[in-house]
Amino acid sequence: MTSADRPGHLVTTATLDARYLPDVMALVERCASHDGFDAGADEGFVRARSYPVPPEIVRQTADLIWIVGDKVVGYAGTYGFGRDEIEVVAVVDPEWRRRGIGQALINEAIGVGNRAEVGRVLLVVPRFSVGGHALAERVGAKRSHSEAAMVLRDVPLGGDDLGLGLVARIANISDVAVLGEIGSSAFDGSPDEASAISRSSIGAIGRTIFLIAKGGEDVGMVSIAVDHGAASIAGFAVRPEHQGKGIGRAVLRWLVRRLHGDGIAPITIEVDVTNDRAAGLYRDCGFREDRIYDYLAVATG
Ligand SMILES: CC(C)(COP(=O)(O)OP(=O)(O)OC[C@H]1O[C@@H](n2cnc3c(N)ncnc32)[C@H](O)[C@@H]1OP(=O)(O)O)[C@@H](O)C(=O)NCCC(=O)NCCS
Repeated sequence: MTSADRPGHLVTTATLDARYLPDVMALVERCASHDGFDAGADEGFVRARSYPVPPEIVRQTADLIWIVGDKVVGYAGTYGFGRDEIEVVAVVDPEWRRRGIGQALINEAIGVGNRAEVGRVLLVVPRFSVGGHALAERVGAKRSHSEAAMVLRDVPLGGDDLGLGLVARIANISDVAVLGEIGSSAFDGSPDEASAISRSSIGAIGRTIFLIAKGGEDVGMVSIAVDHGAASIAGFAVRPEHQGKGIGRAVLRWLVRRLHGDGIAPITIEVDVTNDRAAGLYRDCGFREDRIYDYLAVATG
């Protein structure tokens, strides 16, 4: 198929405003019922695109909307976290597949990565998606890693306290350096990159980062994004020298009880499929594996 045969055209926006948000949400619903997955988490991601984009990630962020006639039939969102890569999530209306629309959206998303001068573009493809994997192969993407989305099924018992002498407080912009230090000590990446990720979350609508202290020292962090009553937990880190002492378990149990007590559901957390230790901890706190996503990388430049 040549681009001349491809129906429709592309519209690029910086945030999903009222013109496109309902149509993109409806598209995600149609894909979910066709492909047999629960649209809940994806709707949360899409809805988050209607919020203002923090300046640090403006160049890494784009909403790519494919329109045929007056109908939205394809969508790709690029997600930047202030790192040397962007993530891309794409969907095409089941009735409009195999006409080159997905390919055009992915090519455009790779263009966003090139213009933002990141090293790679990661396509986020649900494990079950035959079309997604075929398209990723077609654009030369190589497997990077896989993550399991885990969903809270059993609320852990306990009170309102964190226990272990731990204290939690909501982080603010003056905490960016310490968050960067904790994040980079626990994950791969530089303190600057980890600070940039925290900076883009602090003050963003629905986002909260908790700093966890013990004996006056900041020992860990955890970040949550709440959207329309659903929460996802990310950026969960304990400094290496404080790992293995039950801090992570205490923090997660406390957070999950707190969110559940506020009536928030579902509560999800993602974990690299090779990270047995973290997955074991999450299972222990009542989470169960739901969907697996493969991250397939296209080098830019
Ligand atoms: C993945 C998805 C976006 C593809 O959209 P699309 O518009 O159908 O893709 P295209 O028509 O541009 O396909 C381009 C090429 O990818 C490959 N491909 C796409 N879907 C395929 C399928 N079901 N089986 C085999 N190959 C496929 C083919 O090589 C195709 O070229 P061809 O039609 O000339 O043979 C769509 O199937 C979808 O929404 N899936 C669910 C969500 C998902 O997996 N998203 C991840 C995308 S990164």
